[in-house]
Amino acid sequence: MLKIAVCVSGGGTNLQAIIDGIKYEMITNTEISVVISNHLDAYALVRADDNKIPAVCISPDDYETREAFHEAFLEALDFYGVDLVVLAGFLVVLPPQIISKYKNRIINIHPSLIPSFCGKGYYGIKVHEAVLERGVKITGATVHFVDEGTDTGPIILQQAVKVEQGDTPERLQRRVMEEAEWKILPKAIHLIANGRVAVFDKTVMIEE
Ligand code: GRF
Repeated sequence: MLKIAVCVSGGGTNLQAIIDGIKYEMITNTEISVVISNHLDAYALVRADDNKIPAVCISPDDYETREAFHEAFLEALDFYGVDLVVLAGFLVVLPPQIISKYKNRIINIHPSLIPSFCGKGYYGIKVHEAVLERGVKITGATVHFVDEGTDTGPIILQQAVKVEQGDTPERLQRRVMEEAEWKILPKAIHLIANGRVAVFDKTVMIEE
């Protein structure tokens, strides 16, 4: 059984997709051991509570130093025996020490087709604003392993989504979630939990 920590900062619709994926067996061999939020008022914590999943709030604001926050974060992962860390809209940057300790055991969902519209400054609604501003016709989402860079780790799954005329950033964000994020994040977890994902440097091989 793969024990996962789902890290969130906001609404937690991706967390909900994972909860539902486990419930309806699209994700097998997986248990959410803990939900970690950096905001006490994140709606994701209500979703965890509703589903009787342990949840903790660990925020950099509550620690005197960034190091103390990192230590608390690592302690929580240890305490809950986490095998895989899932960043599902988690707006806190993890330091190289955590990333190297959990090498190829941290995944992230990004709301664009990497390497487009990613990297520093591209998060949340900003991604969709930039997509519309540039006028691209296809966008999407990417699940990738997290390495020391920003959105630079090995790509696991991608799903394309059409940009439609008249899209607003909010409308596009919602469609990217519905058509891409909520599908590929649960799928990536399922594949990892069933030993079907192997990483060779920057390349991910998936056993179909
Ligand atoms: C998603 O768009 C995700 O790709 C981005 O943050 C958003 C999180 O949404 N990194 P939610 O909290 O899962 O609803």
